[in-house]
Amino acid sequence: MSATRFGDAQVLWQLLRGQPRLDDHRECLERFYAPQARHYDAFRERLLAGRAALLDRLCLAPGQHVVELGGGTARNLEYLDPELRGALARVDVVDLCPSLLERARERCRTWSNVHVIEADAATYTPPAAVDRVYFSYALTMMPEWRAALRNAFRMLRPGGLVGVVDFGQARGGDDWRARADAAFWRRWFGHDGVRPDPAHGAYLDGLFERVERCDGRNPIPYLPGLRAPYFIYVGRK
Ligand SMILES: C[S@@+](CC[C@H](N)C(=O)[O-])C[C@H]1O[C@@H](n2cnc3c(N)ncnc32)[C@H](O)[C@@H]1O
Repeated sequence: MSATRFGDAQVLWQLLRGQPRLDDHRECLERFYAPQARHYDAFRERLLAGRAALLDRLCLAPGQHVVELGGGTARNLEYLDPELRGALARVDVVDLCPSLLERARERCRTWSNVHVIEADAATYTPPAAVDRVYFSYALTMMPEWRAALRNAFRMLRPGGLVGVVDFGQARGGDDWRARADAAFWRRWFGHDGVRPDPAHGAYLDGLFERVERCDGRNPIPYLPGLRAPYFIYVGRK
């Protein structure tokens, strides 16, 4: 079996087992991700659409302080032009899961402006107001997602941008097809602790001035015919 197939098999096994139900969220994440941490990036490459597109829309520029909440292995920083990444004043990759953070530390060890931090997205406080905050497939995994969004709002400077890319239809819909589709994906993702919620879009609009919102569908690896809904949102404080 090739290394990729073997890695995929390990990830698929964890996805089939699902996320354990525990009161301690950090422990839940660790038990779910530790056995697949080494293969996480290769598999998610095909599953998590729109990540580079979100970074493009955030208009990152030299000198900015940028925070990713739920940053996992810090893979997203590799979507940036290396020159721009090096010219950012500071990047905080914040996550609660030790084994994914270990991968992030390995990846960022030579990037002196990147700080890899173990903390909860709902409570992390950067040393000063920041220019950009984003969530990449992390909001749906945060039981306290409203508190995490309020925290993003708090840490942004006035005029700063928030970005979200995640599973779910930001716009939702009222007819029975839209409701059945949303219910199917809620159940599908719920097994792995991912909770798409039609309330995400409205809550974002309540906190931020919307700059852009778009919806897409992306194939699921090994399951031809299934296309998971995702959305991209950019808002201004
Ligand atoms: C699907 S992964 C996405 C990782 C990364 N953003 C990416 O695009 O590859 C979701 C991440 O959210 C993190 N997470 C979940 N709840 C969190 C919380 N309350 N605080 C910080 N990170 C959290 C998980 O540990 C995991 O790394």
